[in-house]
Amino acid sequence: MLHIGLMGGSFNPVHLGHLHLAHAALESGRVDQVFFLPTGNPPHKSKSLANKYDRLRMVELALKSEERMAVCREEIDREGVIYTVDTLKRLREKWKDCRFTYLIGADTLRTLHTWRCVDEVITLCDFLVLMRPGEQDDDMAQLMDAWTARGAHIEALTAEPVDISSTQIRKRIAEGQAIDSLVPRAVADYIRENALYGNEVGMKREKMVYKLKKALDAQRFAHTLGVEETAREMAKCFGEDEDRAALAGLLHDCAKCLTLGEMVKAAKGEKLDPVMKESKALMHAVAGACIARNVYGVEDEIVLSCIRWHTTGRSGMTRLEKIIYLADMIEPNRKPFEGLEELRALCREDLDKAMHRALLMSFEHVQRQGKTLHPDTLAALQDYQPVPEVQDMPALEK
Ligand SMILES: [Fe+2]
Ligand SMILES: [Fe+2]
Repeated sequence: MLHIGLMGGSFNPVHLGHLHLAHAALESGRVDQVFFLPTGNPPHKSKSLANKYDRLRMVELALKSEERMAVCREEIDREGVIYTVDTLKRLREKWKDCRFTYLIGADTLRTLHTWRCVDEVITLCDFLVLMRPGEQDDDMAQLMDAWTARGAHIEALTAEPVDISSTQIRKRIAEGQAIDSLVPRAVADYIRENALYGNEVGMKREKMVYKLKKALDAQRFAHTLGVEETAREMAKCFGEDEDRAALAGLLHDCAKCLTLGEMVKAAKGEKLDPVMKESKALMHAVAGACIARNVYGVEDEIVLSCIRWHTTGRSGMTRLEKIIYLADMIEPNRKPFEGLEELRALCREDLDKAMHRALLMSFEHVQRQGKTLHPDTLAALQDYQPVPEVQDMPALEK
């Protein structure tokens, strides 16, 4: 008879401590498999509880390479208040030849008497109480004896604790701290990609992508995703904030497909020079920063500034601003232009050499067109080398 361990919980998010306990139960030989049983959404969902589908997906990702663990959707697919007694009845119905053991901690054992229809529950499953060393004291032994007398099959298992809690993880995320040592890699990626637990700046990425897809033509949309990815890679390479770089990359051209009139309207209240007001190529950066703030909910000035300066650059650019400027030029969907491959190579090696080269390329490009460089671009270039003074204010094509 297959002996299945059940691990219930909100898994908000699932973490290495959960996996550790599941392994301890398996290694004890008391169970052959462990089913993770994420709870559904309660009727009154607390703000810190991620959506049930996100929590389910995280458990799936965490268990991907665990042969003897599986996720069970039994409580996910039901609405309203869900009681363990009902879940157990359903599981028993589905898995007739199996024996179920609920894996609980010492804390849960102390509150077991509050479970709905607990006298029925103890006929439906056994219990394995996972205790920390030292936790198995006389009180605990008495409590277990009492349950045994009441008809429960209950055993204790001492397992070394792993001090990780979901609360601690959510707190770290909200504070912008790393969680990579606390959750499986794929779970950390999922949390980041979906901006769970207050990790979001404004709306979630998936919603942004959806909006961008509607706001941009297909080519610009592909370019946008290319810049997002390239910006993230470059930030990683140069030790800058990857999430900020990716967000700025994703939104840098959010205003690109508007009309000039719409851009000027979106940038109401911003300081605009006369040349800029006449140039979509320049205006979309200023308008883009405003739209990122007002429509996409971005409040991070560092990200907004990357968007604001991505067409012209400026003197004293931050490293993230440089990354967005460059990622915009070298992303994989860019039509090839002379010097692109050399620039890409520089972008992997030296941020300032790459920036200097990119500015020179812009300089040469506008010169070939018989135009002059925008003063902000000129100022950016002057950070690297002396350049002749230019009086006119041209539209910079970029
Ligand atoms: Fe742009
Ligand atoms: Fe762009």
